Amino acid sequence: MTQTQISREQHIAAASVLARQHPALRIVREEHERLAAIVHGMRYLLRTVEETGAQPNLKVFRAMLLYISEYPERLHHPKEDLYLFAPLRRHTREYDATLLELEAQHAQGEALVRRLEHLLARYEFGGAAEFAPFREQVGHYADFYFRHMRLEEEVIFPALREHLSAEEWKEADRAFSANDDPLAGKELKQSFERLFTLIVSITPAPMGLGPALQ
Ligand SMILES: [Fe+2]
Ligand SMILES: [Fe+2]
Repeated sequence: MTQTQISREQHIAAASVLARQHPALRIVREEHERLAAIVHGMRYLLRTVEETGAQPNLKVFRAMLLYISEYPERLHHPKEDLYLFAPLRRHTREYDATLLELEAQHAQGEALVRRLEHLLARYEFGGAAEFAPFREQVGHYADFYFRHMRLEEEVIFPALREHLSAEEWKEADRAFSANDDPLAGKELKQSFERLFTLIVSITPAPMGLGPALQ
């Protein structure tokens, strides 16, 4: 489950060109790739469980859910709202409907993850009979969140590039940069790095570095 694999799968050429030009966009894209890596890992594991009947260590799913719950909520979405969506709105009304939709999706995403946590708990205590609803909801969440990220990269990235001032880019670049995050701070970023490393280390091979399911 490396970022390179995911980025190949999720590659969007236009976004990549833009991302090279502005550190903020490059970092948003990297954060998307992190989230995509976790969601892909979750889907892959569920497919393996379904096909082989193997018993997964549910700690992996709990760690993955913790990541896709807290990372967007505490780190990713607040910065998008404040440093990208807000300045774009100040320059043009053209993207108002899309920005409203994206902001609503930030809240919806959080609600979907709460539902996933609930279904995982049911699977944990209810056994195989509760597997299907969890798996279906993961599929639903994956489709939803991939659509969200694509909308940002394909519609909002070009709009930002067209409208934001040099001063606004400077502020956005600083906000998204790894060592100087005014909202989250260095500590929080590092705690997510550790959680990501843990997930990779306990996810069964070949997606992660943990022992393969059997
Ligand atoms: Fe977003
Ligand atoms: Fe995003």
